[in-house]
Amino acid sequence: MNSQQWIEKADKYIMKTYGRYPLVPVKGEGCYLWDADGRKYLDFLAGVAVNNLGHCHPKVVAALQKQAAQLIHCSNYYHIPQQIELAELLCNNSFADRAFFCNSGAEANEAAIKLARKYSREKFGVDRFEIITALASFHGRTMATVSATGQEKVQKFFDPLLHGFKHVPFNDAEALKEAISPVTCAILLEPIQGEGGVVFPSVEYMQEVRKICDANNLILIFDEVQVGIGRTGKLFAHEHFGITPDIMTLAKALAGGAPIGTMLAKGEIAESFGPGTHGSTFGGNPLVTAAGVATVRAVLEDGILENTEKMGTYLVGRLNSLKEKFPFVVAVRGIGLMIGMELSIPGADIVKEALAQGLLLNVAQDRVLRFVPPLIVGKSEIDAMVTILEGILEKF
Ligand SMILES: Cc1ncc(COP(=O)(O)O)c(C=O)c1O
Repeated sequence: MNSQQWIEKADKYIMKTYGRYPLVPVKGEGCYLWDADGRKYLDFLAGVAVNNLGHCHPKVVAALQKQAAQLIHCSNYYHIPQQIELAELLCNNSFADRAFFCNSGAEANEAAIKLARKYSREKFGVDRFEIITALASFHGRTMATVSATGQEKVQKFFDPLLHGFKHVPFNDAEALKEAISPVTCAILLEPIQGEGGVVFPSVEYMQEVRKICDANNLILIFDEVQVGIGRTGKLFAHEHFGITPDIMTLAKALAGGAPIGTMLAKGEIAESFGPGTHGSTFGGNPLVTAAGVATVRAVLEDGILENTEKMGTYLVGRLNSLKEKFPFVVAVRGIGLMIGMELSIPGADIVKEALAQGLLLNVAQDRVLRFVPPLIVGKSEIDAMVTILEGILEKF
């Protein structure tokens, strides 16, 4: 079937939860995708920061193929070697002592919310349940994570929301301090807001947040679903701020495109989850965690972090030269390959035109073009992307 035929069938059978672009990808390799008509696309979206190693990375493909032929799934009633290996890798390379596995970012945040509440009520009493999060944050689409998310557009239609969340402006330590009350148990933040428009907090703010948590016995949860696994040039984004959280959630890029989520926590807090307190049928199954082990090893061992830092600096430089040329480019901001270009005009038509020209981009909060290419991207792909983008911007 060609792309048009697939799109007509989608129109009939798929729920319309997404305003989908007219693209039917059927094959991927490195920084490129091919559609059902054989057309090639340069991918600077990478499945929204999922395909950090590029499409169909040979090590991920090999791990999936080997594991699929050996054991795809068993129950979490048993011990799963690939899951144990992935937990060990993540704990040995972070602040964390233990991992819980699930299937998505929202589920990882659900787990974090439940763990924070359970630990807090056991340690400090049943009155401690409230979690403070940031305005413009995004934490997922389940009821608890919609309630945690600081965006009305995500919440509307779904009242009543879950009780026990309070939202404050991001990057404002005073507002955070003022929001704390005797019922507060945790603070949940993205170290860099992704869906919120690629927004970076200051180092001072993040360090202050850590101090506020310590002074008030609050659990600090970082949602690194979008920015973890090398995206910023470090394995975890919080490393840029010289602090560690008590709980961290990961998903998206963790298993090279296989669906996975995880919540990592420090010892005493992690201990609060005993048998029967939380679970997931598929969470951390042999297939996805085999892909996860291959992915994390490749990110750590194959020069991915170095390339991310180098190419991120190069891409920000190229985008800044576009800023000089086009007055409607307000700002370019980025760490590693987590990059946003803020415009004074809506970005949707730019993204549409880019697609027509074989370039995949994305816009967050209407006016921020988001560049999250595979971390294996090279100068030649960046130059090709900038050439296409420059040609498009000239028309606006
Ligand atoms: C920061 C952040 N948290 C959570 C989520 C939700 O992840 P998922 O879509 O895998 O449930 C996302 C998804 O974009 C995200 O960017």
